[in-house]
Amino acid sequence: MRFENQNAIVTGAGRGIGQAIALRLAAEGARVACVSRTEENAKRIADEINLIRQCGPDSPNSAKHYAVDVADHPAVQKIGAQILQDFTKIDILVNNAGVTRDGLAMRMSVEDWDAVINTNLRGAFNFTQSIIRGMIKQRSGRIINITSVIGLIGNAGQTNYAASKAGLIGFTKSLARELASRSITVNAIAPGFITTDMTAGLSDEIKKTIQSQIPLGKTGTSEDVANAVAFLASAEASYITGQVLCVDGGMVM
Ligand SMILES: NC(=O)c1ccc[n+]([C@@H]2O[C@H](COP(=O)([O-])OP(=O)(O)OC[C@H]3O[C@@H](n4cnc5c(N)ncnc54)[C@H](O)[C@@H]3O)[C@@H](O)[C@H]2O)c1
Repeated sequence: MRFENQNAIVTGAGRGIGQAIALRLAAEGARVACVSRTEENAKRIADEINLIRQCGPDSPNSAKHYAVDVADHPAVQKIGAQILQDFTKIDILVNNAGVTRDGLAMRMSVEDWDAVINTNLRGAFNFTQSIIRGMIKQRSGRIINITSVIGLIGNAGQTNYAASKAGLIGFTKSLARELASRSITVNAIAPGFITTDMTAGLSDEIKKTIQSQIPLGKTGTSEDVANAVAFLASAEASYITGQVLCVDGGMVM
C-alpha cells in the first residue's frame, strides 16, 4: 500500500489511461478525486473504486467525482478549492486529460488549434495552479503530467497536439525547478501508442504502420502507463524530478 493516507487527483479519469491511473493509485491505498468532463464518466469510475474498496460514498476513504472542463480556468479554481475542502490535502496530481483534433496545419481551424492547446496544456496549468499552494505549504507532493512521444518527435497532421505536448514538457521542467526546494517533484510520462478510445479511430493501415515502428512489437496498455505513474508518485522516485519517462515499447530512444 504505497499510497496509504495519500490523496490524489486524476484528470480525465473517466476512461482510458486516466481510468487505469485512478484505479491503480486507489488499489495502492490512495483516496482519489476522479475528474472528468462529464459527471457520468467521473461518477462511474469513482463508484467502481468505492465498490472495489468496499467503502460507501460518505466514508473518509471514498473516491469522489468532479465534472469540469480542465481548460476553463475559473471553473477549475473552483473545483480545486472544492477538492481541497473535501480531501484536506493533495499529495499527487496527475494531469492526464487530453484531446486530439488532427489535420494538416495548412487547413487546421483556429478552433481545433485552441481546443487542443487549451485542454492539453492550459488544463495542466489550471489544475496545478488550483492545488499548488497546499503542496508548497506541506513541503511535499508529486505532479505527473501525461505528455506524448509526439511532443518529442512530432507527427504530420498533429501540429496542435505536438505543440501542446512539447509545451507540457517545458512546463514540467520549469515547474520542477520552481518547486524542487519544497520537495515537490514534477515529472512527465510520454506514452507511445496505447490502445484506448483515443487511438481506436485510427485506420488499420495506420495502426499497422505504427506497430511496425515499435521495437517491442506491440502496442501498450493503459496499465503500462499507470505502472509508470505509480512509480513516479511513490517514495521510491523521490530523487527524480524534471524528467520525461517514455512508456512506448522503445519507439523513442
Ligand atoms: N492513447 C495513446 O496512445 C496516447 C499516447 C500518448 C499520450 N496519450 C495521452 O494520454 C492521455 C489520456 O489519453 P487516452 O488515450 O486515455 O484518451 P481518451 O480519449 O480515452 O481519454 C481522455 C480523457 O480525458 C478527458 N478529457 C478530455 N478533454 C477534457 C477536458 N477539457 N476536461 C476534462 N476532461 C477532459 C475525457 O473525458 C477522457 O476521460 C491524454 O493526455 C493523451 O494525450 C495517449
